Amino acid sequence: MTLNEVLKFVDEIVFDKTGKHLDSLQKAILRATWQGEKYSKVAQEYHCTKFHVGNVASNLWQLISKELKEKIYKSNFRAAMERYQVSNISSVFNFGRQSNYVKGNINLCPDNTNSPQETKQKLPTTQTTNENNTLLPKLDLRDAPDIRKIFYDRSTELTTLKTWILKHRCRLITVSGISGIGKSTIIRHLIPEIESNFDHIIWRTLRTSSPLNETLKNLIETISNVTEINLPNNTDAQLSMLIEKIRNIRCLIILDDVQQILSGGQLISNYKSGYENYSNLFKIIGELPHNSCFILNSWEPPLEIFNFIDDDSPVRLFQLTGLTEKVAREMLKNRGLLDDEKWQDLINLYQSNPLYLKLIGETIKKLFGRSVAQYLSYQPLFLSDELTNILQLHFHRLSELEKQLLSQLSEGEKSVSISQLLEKSQLSSPELFQTLLSLERRSLIDKIIEENQTLFIVKPVFRHYIKNYISPE
Ligand SMILES: Nc1ncnc2c1ncn2[C@@H]1O[C@H](COP(=O)(O)OP(=O)(O)OP(=O)(O)O)[C@@H](O)[C@H]1O
Ligand SMILES: [Mg+2]
Repeated sequence: MTLNEVLKFVDEIVFDKTGKHLDSLQKAILRATWQGEKYSKVAQEYHCTKFHVGNVASNLWQLISKELKEKIYKSNFRAAMERYQVSNISSVFNFGRQSNYVKGNINLCPDNTNSPQETKQKLPTTQTTNENNTLLPKLDLRDAPDIRKIFYDRSTELTTLKTWILKHRCRLITVSGISGIGKSTIIRHLIPEIESNFDHIIWRTLRTSSPLNETLKNLIETISNVTEINLPNNTDAQLSMLIEKIRNIRCLIILDDVQQILSGGQLISNYKSGYENYSNLFKIIGELPHNSCFILNSWEPPLEIFNFIDDDSPVRLFQLTGLTEKVAREMLKNRGLLDDEKWQDLINLYQSNPLYLKLIGETIKKLFGRSVAQYLSYQPLFLSDELTNILQLHFHRLSELEKQLLSQLSEGEKSVSISQLLEKSQLSSPELFQTLLSLERRSLIDKIIEENQTLFIVKPVFRHYIKNYISPE
């Protein structure tokens, strides 16, 4: 019997007795016992006491002992399991108590108190096994985008995210970047690569700006696998309940479109009125030890996460940038565009942003017979309505100081230093530093290091937008 088979076997027993599948801690106990490791190691990994692990383990041994009608405990668990062969693991899992466990040559026929149909109803439809008979997590991806057939290579970014989540056990990762850069797409494609490490994967969007207590209720109900739950009224108590849940059950929770709860018209720092308490959620998720991971997709990161960010911190920021030139070229090729010697110019202009390239690719097809050279011969550059609408949304989120600095930065084509900006602008140095930081966190300006000097430049599409679509005050 392999460890995976043992986990499935015990999961079947526990589900039958309790109506719940094994949670992460129980699986870790079984894994450690199978591998001859100590409970203290599990306790350390799960940020709980050895005593707590011992209690959870003791309950587990009791359940297994009852089912197998034999005293099972830590020291004889592996030997006992090795005496067992599960005659048909997948049929045990799929059809509940219909199959028999075979103990040596003797068939152990468990009592058939549940009809197969009843057991089937209890099984969540979203939790299945893969071809290797490994338990897959429960997936609730109703708010997630579909996986599309064409996915342009993001392997470097995926590797970093996987390392942060699986190896560094990060608890809170913010993926930030301008609209269309591919935040939702990359995280959707990350899920199949890491799902076997989680018990539950939940994707929620904050597009409709749900208040915190609604989001918490929804998450707690989904993780608990119930449709209605009585929650304490107090948000702190609800937060504690969520933390308790995600300690025992290893969840990957994606909150998409987080910018919707952050306010516009100011430097990045504030929440919209009525959403300030999300800050407590993000702080608690980042600060307290647990075994789950939250991913926040946002145009800009919530400010408090910067307090935690460090190389070895479980809270990280991933600023997503465009596709590599090679991949962006592949995209233009697939779209049937011509004049490949001009592609680099087009890619630089549109910052390798997959959505921008898709939109401009369509325009070039429709108006310029697929010729990139013809399109680029026109000045100023054309920004389609879809694109200007997106840029307008970004522009309206800016504070007055940011707008002022951006129009100043957009005047020339060259990058400028802090001292040049201080000379030209009306801003004091603290105002300038704060404004530059805010624009950088919103992914609207690029930094270039030249001869030990940091220079700033507005991203090309945004510069065109400001110069040609925004009239100076
Ligand atoms: N790697 C990729 N391969 C193929 N298409 C991609 C890729 N990345 C993004 N796209 C496409 O670009 C568009 C924008 O991507 P996506 O919705 O993921 O961006 P986003 O950063 O989440 O934007 P927003 O902030 O507006 O939600 C989508 O149509 C998506 O299919
Ligand atoms: Mg998105």
